[in-house]
Amino acid sequence: MYKILLIPGDGIGLEVIPAAERLLQATGLALELSYADAGWETFQKTGNSVPEGTLERVKAADATLAGAFTSPSGSQKVPGFKGAIRHLRRTLDLFANLRPAKSRPIPGSLQNVDMLMVRENTQGLYVEQERRYGDVAIADAVITKGASERVARVALSEARRRRGELAVVHKANVLPLTTGLFLESAIGVSKDFPDVRVYDLIVDAAAMKLVRDPQSFDVLVTTNLFGDILSDLMAGLVGGLGLAPSANLGEHHAIFEPVHGSAPDIAGRGVANPAATFLTAAMMLNHLGEEEVARKIDQAVDQVLMEGPRTGDLGGKATTREFADAVIEALNHL
Ligand code: NAI
Ligand code: MG
Repeated sequence: MYKILLIPGDGIGLEVIPAAERLLQATGLALELSYADAGWETFQKTGNSVPEGTLERVKAADATLAGAFTSPSGSQKVPGFKGAIRHLRRTLDLFANLRPAKSRPIPGSLQNVDMLMVRENTQGLYVEQERRYGDVAIADAVITKGASERVARVALSEARRRRGELAVVHKANVLPLTTGLFLESAIGVSKDFPDVRVYDLIVDAAAMKLVRDPQSFDVLVTTNLFGDILSDLMAGLVGGLGLAPSANLGEHHAIFEPVHGSAPDIAGRGVANPAATFLTAAMMLNHLGEEEVARKIDQAVDQVLMEGPRTGDLGGKATTREFADAVIEALNHL
């Protein structure tokens, strides 16, 4: 029996997580599923984006599946507000963010792409230490040898299980002290993985190469902000945010979430693509050791992507529920 915590969060999270709950129930696995609150709406109601009770339940769960969390954009800080997912990642020390990008059987996806971004998840500019002095604003970027080494080890282990290649992405030519330390640390631990071919790429060159020659990549590892941006680019090459899954892994806890956000432009209409969350659920089950069921979910999603119905982001007309029904039906026949 696995204890799975579901946190819908905000916007389309409230649509894709209940769809994933139905999918998980359809797997036939012994799962104890329960819900908890976090996010912008929770902050507005309680003054806390991640209530203490939610944090305790994430810690007690075998794995957590989260939807999406709104963070308001603006030039001012909202007093007392912490971005829910970033707060969870840092508090629970979920230091590695795994974001696979794999070809899907749809017209909008490049073919023969199978790569994995491993993004450092707790540091860099995302420590959210910003100050403003009138018309001047300053942000700190924190990089430590320890955090860089441990995320590099995760990336090297993943590369070892895959095609054995790792690109370390950085900007050490301009920022040698911060991203240079990241590069040096990653190259340092790669000595323990002589079977992995490790090379480095400057982030702007990496962006171009990802667009021009994505088939050449296996695993990439980089700092928080670069990984955030490049992983969306990678998702765009293989069908977009509606299909991009991710895992936040720490030593003791794990939170799985689609790469996309709360999509306020389509939220509340029941048309969000739940595929990203389904593929995320598959990553979660894989992590729990249920490789067979995980593989079947992946296969069922691909089958429906190929045969339809498809959701609006992929040019179709299906609702979240119709797509989910089709995947559950396909899963039942595998
Ligand atoms: P977004 O990912 O929410 O949306 C970007 C575009 O992709 C929108 O046009 C949206 O409709 C579309 N899209 C995203 N997921 C989709 C899906 N499953 N099906 C169909 N279309 C989909 O990013 P945006 O608009 O930049 O941010 C909106 C909010 O989400 C912000 O408050 C932001 O802070 C938050 N956000 C949260 C993330 C998280 O919880 N990990 C990640 C990214 C953004
Ligand atoms: Mg992002």
